Amino acid sequence: MADFLESESKYIFLLPQLKSSFLSNSSSLPPGPTPWPMVGNIPHMKSPLPHVTLANFAKTYGPLISLRLGTQCLIVGSSPDVAMEILKTKDRFLCGRYNPHFLPLTKSQLNQLSLVWNEESNDNWKHLRTLCKTELFSNKAINSQEALRLKSIASLIDFVRVKEGEVMKIADLVFATVYNILGNSLMSKDFIGLGEKNEDGGIKGSISEIMGILTVPNISDFYPILSKLDLQGLRKKSIKFSVRMRAVMIPIIEERRNFVKANSFRHNDFLDTLLDSDFSDQRIFLLFMELFSSGTDTTKTTIEWTMAELAKNTESLKRVRAEIETEITQAFPKDFHKMQLPYLQACIKESMRLHPATTLLLPHRSIESCQLPILVNIWAIGRDPSIWEEPLKFKPERFLNSNLDFKGNSFKFIPFSAGRRTCPGIPMAERTVPLILVSFIHFFDWSLPNRNDPSELRMTEKFGVTTQMEHPLSLLLKARKCY
Ligand code: HEM
Repeated sequence: MADFLESESKYIFLLPQLKSSFLSNSSSLPPGPTPWPMVGNIPHMKSPLPHVTLANFAKTYGPLISLRLGTQCLIVGSSPDVAMEILKTKDRFLCGRYNPHFLPLTKSQLNQLSLVWNEESNDNWKHLRTLCKTELFSNKAINSQEALRLKSIASLIDFVRVKEGEVMKIADLVFATVYNILGNSLMSKDFIGLGEKNEDGGIKGSISEIMGILTVPNISDFYPILSKLDLQGLRKKSIKFSVRMRAVMIPIIEERRNFVKANSFRHNDFLDTLLDSDFSDQRIFLLFMELFSSGTDTTKTTIEWTMAELAKNTESLKRVRAEIETEITQAFPKDFHKMQLPYLQACIKESMRLHPATTLLLPHRSIESCQLPILVNIWAIGRDPSIWEEPLKFKPERFLNSNLDFKGNSFKFIPFSAGRRTCPGIPMAERTVPLILVSFIHFFDWSLPNRNDPSELRMTEKFGVTTQMEHPLSLLLKARKCY
C-alpha cells in the first residue's frame, strides 16, 4: 500500500506541471481505459450514471485514473487515500476550481466575484469565504436564524395538514421550505410557495429548467476549442436564467439599499451585512445566486434520500420516531441543536454515505498551469466493500458510537468534501436537514401510494449536479392523532 501511494502521489505531484488540456504525452498520466482517436473515452461512458462507470473503471485501473473525454483529460480519485492526497496533502495546489463552459460569466469575472467557481482560490474568494463563515454560518449567526427556520417549518406542517389524503411529492415540499429558510437568512424573504408548480412560471420553474440544463453533457466541456460556438445553446440558456433571476433579485436589493439609507431599523440579515460592507448590487446578486444554487438542491436531495431510506426501512423509521417522541413534548419542534437524536443523526449519515448529494464533489483543478478537472468519487468510496461491511445495506447502527462526523476528519466519509474547498454551509445544513426530517417524522404518518410495499420502493438515481432520485419520492402523509 505504501508503495502504491508513493506512485499515486507522484502522479498527483505531476499535475501542476502539465501544460495543456490536450496531452500528447499521456504516459505521465495515471492509468485508465485506452482512449479512442478524437472522441477519447466518451464511448466508454455508456451508463447515464458517470459515477458508476468511474467506480467500475477504478476496479480495473486502480483508485487514481485518468480519462480523455473528447480533447479534455480529467483525473478521478476513488479511495480514501487518494481523496486525502487531493483534498489534504496536495490541497494547497489542487484547491482551484475547474469551470464548466455553461457558466454565464468570463473567467476574470469569476475570479473577481465568485465563491463557488473562483478558479484560483484567490484573495477575492478568501474574502467571500471568511465573510460567509463569520456572518452567515458562525454559531452566533446560525442561532440567530432559529426563528426563521421554525417559521418555515410551521408553514410546511400547516400546508401538509391541509393536503391530508393527497399524494405529495416530498422533493417539492422540501425544496420550497429549504429555499425559503435560506431566502429569509439572506434577505428576510420567502421566495417559493409550498404549492407552487414548475409550470407556474416563478422562481421554482426557472430553477428546475436550469437544473435540467446542467444534466446535459456539454460538448464544449469535451472540446473546449468549440466552446465559443455554444453548439447546444447551454450557455445561452444559462445567461437567460441569470437575466430572469436578476429581474427578481436586483429590485429587492435596491429597495433594501434605499431603505437602509432612509431608516435606522435593521433586518439583521446577510443582505444588511453586505450593504454595510459596500458590496455592489452585482456582487450581492452573484453571491446570493451561488448560495441558493449550492445550498438548496444539495439539502433537498439529502432529505429526500433519507426519507426514502426510512420509508423503505420501516424498523429504522420506528426507532427514529420513538427517539423523537422522548425529545419533543410540545406541539411544535424545537431547533435541532436543542434535541438529542443520535439515531436520527446516524440515519442521515448512513443515507449520505449511500447517496451523497454530489457524487463526484465539484471539479477541482490545480491553481498552477494545469487545466485538468480533478474529481473525487465519494459515491464509490461510500460503497466500497473493502471499507464498509455490507456496503449496500442501510445500517445506521454503523454510525452509532463512531466518531465519523461531517467535517472531513476521515476520508472514508466526506459528503461535504474536505480541505480549503470544503462546503462552508455545513453548519446550516446540520440544522436544516434534521429539523425538516423531525417535522415529517413526528407530525405525520407515512404510507406509499397504492398501498405499495415499502421494501419495493425504487431507489434508482438520476445524475446531475446533485444526484436525485430517478423516481421522486411520493408519500401519503396523515397528521398523527396526538397533534
Ligand atoms: C446537505 C447539504 C449539503 C451538502 C451535501 C453539500 C456538499 C457540498 C460539496 C460536496 C461541495 C463541494 C466541495 C468541493 O468542491 O470539494 C460543496 C461546496 C459548497 N457548498 Fe455545500 N453542501 C450542502 C449544503 C450547503 C449549504 C446549505 C450552503 C449554503 C447556503 C452550501 C454552500 C456551498 C458553497 C458556497 C460551496 C462552494 C465552496 C467553494 O468552492 O469554496 N452548501 N457543498
